[in-house]
Order: sequence, then C-alpha cells, then structure tokens
Amino acid sequence: MELPFAESYKIKMVEPIYRSTRKQREEWIKAANYNLFNLRSEQVYIDLLTDSGTGAMSDQQWAALMTGDESYAGSSSYFNLKDAIKNIFGFDYFLPTHQGRAAENVLFSVLVKENDVIPGNSHFDTTKGHIEFRNARTVDCTIDEAFDTESEHPFKGNIDLSKLETVYSTIDTEKIPMIIVTLTCNTSGGQPVSMRNLREVSALSKKYGVKVVFDSARFAENAWFIQQREEEYRNKSIKQIVLEMYSYADAMTMSSKKDGIVNIGGFMAMRTEELFKQASVFNIMFEGFNTYGGMAGRDMNALAVGLHEITDGHYLGNRIGQVNYLGNKLINWHIPVQKPIGGHAVFIDATKFLQHVPKEEYIAQTLAIELYLEAGVRGVEVGTLLADRDPETKENRYPRLEMLRLAIPRRTYTNNHMDVVAMALKNIFDRRESIETGFRIKREAPIMRHFSVELEKV
Ligand code: F0G
Repeated sequence: MELPFAESYKIKMVEPIYRSTRKQREEWIKAANYNLFNLRSEQVYIDLLTDSGTGAMSDQQWAALMTGDESYAGSSSYFNLKDAIKNIFGFDYFLPTHQGRAAENVLFSVLVKENDVIPGNSHFDTTKGHIEFRNARTVDCTIDEAFDTESEHPFKGNIDLSKLETVYSTIDTEKIPMIIVTLTCNTSGGQPVSMRNLREVSALSKKYGVKVVFDSARFAENAWFIQQREEEYRNKSIKQIVLEMYSYADAMTMSSKKDGIVNIGGFMAMRTEELFKQASVFNIMFEGFNTYGGMAGRDMNALAVGLHEITDGHYLGNRIGQVNYLGNKLINWHIPVQKPIGGHAVFIDATKFLQHVPKEEYIAQTLAIELYLEAGVRGVEVGTLLADRDPETKENRYPRLEMLRLAIPRRTYTNNHMDVVAMALKNIFDRRESIETGFRIKREAPIMRHFSVELEKV
C-alpha cells in the first residue's frame, strides 16, 4: 500500500495553545465588535486568519539570523539575499521592503498615475488599495471558471486572454502601465496560473508594450501546481519552473511573509537598471537605504535561506498535502468549498453554506463568527466586507464569490488541528438551516475597512 502523508520535519520547539469555552468566546467576540481582527491571539485556539508571517522558521533559518549583518550600508545579508533572488528568479536588481504592500507602494509610486488602468487576475486587497489610492483603477480579467466553485479547472488563477485583449485594444495603452498577475491568485482561492497562461499573457502584453509584474507572495506554491498539473513540467524541478515563470515578467513584488517563510519582510525585483533607479528614490524615502530597505540584516539572511528551502523540492508536497487534507475532509461531508483546493488555504463558499442569510448581512463574516464560537478557530472573510465600497458610488461592492478563508500557516499546525477545524465546520453545517440572520455595520474606515470594521448582530 502507498505510505500515508507525513511532515518532512520534526518539531524542536513548541508554543502552547489553549481551548476556551463557548461562553468565553461569546463575550470576547462581542467585545471585539464581531471583528475577528480585534481578538487577542490568546482568545484563539487554532488561528487560520492568515498564512502571512505566521509560519515556523527552520533551524537553518534561525541559525542564519545569528549571522545577520546589521551594517547600514553594504550589509553581507543584503548580498546573501541578492544572490538568492538572482539565483531563484533571475532578476539582477532588487530592493528590500518591510513587507509586500510596501513593495507595492514603492513600485506603484513609479509606475501608477491618476486615471491609469491596471488589469490582472483578482488583485489582492492591498494591491487594489494602492492602485485606487492613486485614483487609478483595476480590471479583473480572471477566467470565468474561477467564480464557479464547483468547476475543477486546474488553473483557476488564469487570465482570460480575450478579456485582456479587450482592455489593451479599447484603452489607450499609455494609460496601462502594467498588468499584475498574482501567483497564486489569493482572492479566487489560492488558485494557480499555468505556465502556458504566463507565456501567453507575456506575449500579448509585449505586443501592446505593457509591463508584466508578478505579485509573488505564493510563487512556489504556484510552481508546484505547474509541476503537478502541466504535463511538460512533470519532470522539471521547482527551481527550473520558477526560473521559467519569471522569464515572462519585467518585475515582481513579494510579500516574504508567505513563500519566504519569514515573519516579516518583502521586496521588489526588476529586470532593468532604469526601473531600479527610479524605484530606489521612493524606497529610500519610504523604507530605508537600498541595502536594508525596511528589513534587519538578520531577517534578510533568514529570508535568503527561506527562499531556497521553499523551492528545494521537499517542502511543497507536504505543505499543499496538508491544505488538501483539510479540504478533502470537508468535501467528503459535502461542505461547499472552492475546488480544486488551493495552495495556502481552503475557501468555503459561504453563499452555498448559509443559504438563509441575506447578502446585505455579510454571509461569510457570519460564518466566520459561527466557526469562532463553535471551536475558537479564526478564519477570515473574503467577501463583501473585504470588497469595500465602490470609490465613486460609495455602495457596497458584492463580489462574485463570498467566501470564508481558512489559511494554513506554514509548518505550524498538525493534522490533528485540521481534524478539529473540519469537525467544527461539520457541526455548523449540520445546523445551518437554523442560521438566518447576520450582521450590520456600526462603523467603518473609508478604505480597507475589513481590518477595523465594527459590527452588531441584526
Ligand atoms: N499580495 C498578495 C497576493 C497577498 O496575499 C498579500 C498579503 C500581499 C500582496 C501584501 O503583502 O501583507 O506582506 O503587505 N496577504 C495576506 C493574507 C495579508 O492574509 O493573504 P503584505
């Protein structure tokens, strides 16, 4: 018989977590204004809010921390990271930042002007935020299959080339500074983009003179799906696949808190010295001098190791195996999830799960609160709250998918934890008919409201 899944590591250090009672959780979530971001971490038993900066570093990464060089200029840690980026992505130029959105801020300060249009595959919220903040707008060119959670399309992060060509041919390309392709596409469910699609997007963009930028937070998970699902890449290594992926990009932004397996950090990398020089003006202003840009030397060292670990071929099967383990348990109980299961998270289709809660009452947030009350598990709404209001009409934007995301931190929880999460959802699923009302907003911020929104029960 085939041997079962097991982690490709053993555990050297542990951090205790505690179960709470339902009564405690009812008080805590009310005091948090029904916003899971307002909970203290001790009030959470299993934290699937995000896979961002919440993973466990390896012993090699901790060792690299100790040899970090904290020189203001010319730190050896900077050069370690520069070598890793050149080796893995093929880019000659890079700038470190304190996290992914800082890389967006710096790069978009160079590239995005008022009234510009930036197509892509369901831009992540900070990406969209930085674009709309500059009075420019995004156009979502994701393939339609991505919005049908039952479709088993292997690359639901793909760009629809005909939608993209419509954008390129109907809008003055002077107004289109770049396309952003997000790998994997977080918003549509951690769904990958195929190599073929990357190649075609690159060719089409070149034809119209539009730069290609990859939002790279989960680039290695994307490469793993290419290896598994695209026939001609079966026998290629992850490192070979990543190098080819990035041969189709002019630049990248990176949140190192995901596939860098570090707790903080980011960077942007680019092909030309010209773009590097333009961006470094803003990097120095917003982040720090070019050879540290918002990161400690020790953190750059740990990141350089993390980038090699994530692409070394041992890690990814385990990582995605665990996400799949949780997803398949839910599928076996007929709980509606985005299929196929994504790389970093299981996305529950909240509209199909809670069929009586009206969309005006924030269905996915209602499910997130139910899950917290049931078992102290914290997920995150990827739905109407996250979608914010339309900048012009100020009306709620109802996204095509209303989802609860259960993001799994890297190398952090065991499959026993996944069993608890799955059983909690099953319990709610069994009583879903009795859940008929959701929440209304008491207070919200003008942009990226989901982080601080205050809610009350309807
Ligand atoms: N791009 C993508 C695709 C992301 O998922 C994130 C962060 C960012 C950019 C911004 O990076 O947080 O380092 O500033 N996503 C986190 C999440 C917050 O929970 O999915 P950052």
